[in-house]
Amino acid sequence: MTAVLPGATIGIFGGGQLGRMMTLAARTLGYHVIVLDPDPACAAGAVADRVIVARLDDVAAATELARASDVVTVEIEKVGLDAMAAAAALKPVRPGAQVLRVIQDRARQKQWLADRKFPLGPFWIARSADELGDARRSAGLNAFVKSATGGYDGRGQARAGADDDADAVWRALGSSPCVVEQALDLDSEISVMVARRVGGEHATFPPALNHHVNGVLDWSVIPAPVSDAVASEGVRIARDIAEQLDVVGLLAVEMFMLKDGSIVVNELAPRPHNSFHHTELASLTSQFEQAIRAACDLPLGSTDSMRPAAIANLFGDLWLQGVTPRWEEALAIPSVRIHLYGKSPRPGRKMGHVGAVGGTAEDAVTLALVARARLLPTR
Ligand SMILES: Nc1ncnc2c1ncn2[C@@H]1O[C@H](COP(=O)(O)OP(=O)(O)O)[C@@H](O)[C@H]1O
Ligand SMILES: [Mg+2]
Repeated sequence: MTAVLPGATIGIFGGGQLGRMMTLAARTLGYHVIVLDPDPACAAGAVADRVIVARLDDVAAATELARASDVVTVEIEKVGLDAMAAAAALKPVRPGAQVLRVIQDRARQKQWLADRKFPLGPFWIARSADELGDARRSAGLNAFVKSATGGYDGRGQARAGADDDADAVWRALGSSPCVVEQALDLDSEISVMVARRVGGEHATFPPALNHHVNGVLDWSVIPAPVSDAVASEGVRIARDIAEQLDVVGLLAVEMFMLKDGSIVVNELAPRPHNSFHHTELASLTSQFEQAIRAACDLPLGSTDSMRPAAIANLFGDLWLQGVTPRWEEALAIPSVRIHLYGKSPRPGRKMGHVGAVGGTAEDAVTLALVARARLLPTR
């Protein structure tokens, strides 16, 4: 028996907003939750039974997490592999270390996808300033240079023109291995979320359409208004990756749609993803509940979208203008919901999101953006 039933305790590596929303879903299903996070004031702390305050590579803390839990899962991919191994020696860890090993290093992830012939844009792996210079010359103007480890939300990235000094770019990204990517001419961005159980049963949400600003997700809508052919191709690619990685838990696959209609994979995440927060509004099962079901080896919930739903992210800047966001103005739109993560504001920090449902994907996006605009102080 591999199922972990309600009443048991789930341990989560990481206690950010994804961990917080996973914890809320776990609690609804009657589980106890312990999170491990370096920040005692982490977002999940307010809703978890307990926070183990430690780095994500702390082997002793990981051992303690596993000892106190019945199953261990993740809300972040940057978990030390030794810490995962220590936890796995005591309790099931889902997804397993083999998944995080591939995903947490962008260079290894790209190579893994390339070796298995998944569609990718042109890329080069650079392990020195010289290699970075060569790659950038091959990649052409305005290439994306992405640090292999540590980046998120567009951080740990640089754009490199042909005239830029490769040494300076190399140093700015921490003098460590990076991936250089040709800047692709994007039609749009979509993501697909797969949930997979022990033994391979899986369920896939329909693709979400995502809009980024300066490399950071700004809004997302589900189901993506794309052709059936694009949707089913995206779902097929994501399922194949989840199967070949033998993911137990969630796998989010970010994809680029190019102007010629083809799809390439951008990157993977073995956890809930910002571009599926609207599943709480659109779907019978949210991504967070699905994460808990998959980790606990329970039957997966329906991933059907009952109606289009969108989210727009709220960033710390909204709080830093010296006035309270105008919550009542946004909530006066009946189909609008607000979700806050309980974090203290910093510029650019993800603080929460507004969600909205609509008759069409376009309506849902419009409503979410109108609601977000209503939060701004009047001038
Ligand atoms: N090769 C590329 N061509 C065009 N746009 C890109 C490319 N790589 C990244 N981007 C843009 O930057 C965003 C963030 O890049 P991504 O690799 O997903 O990093 P992060 O881990 O920060 O999310 C993407 O969602 C996309 O909008
Ligand atoms: Mg991304």
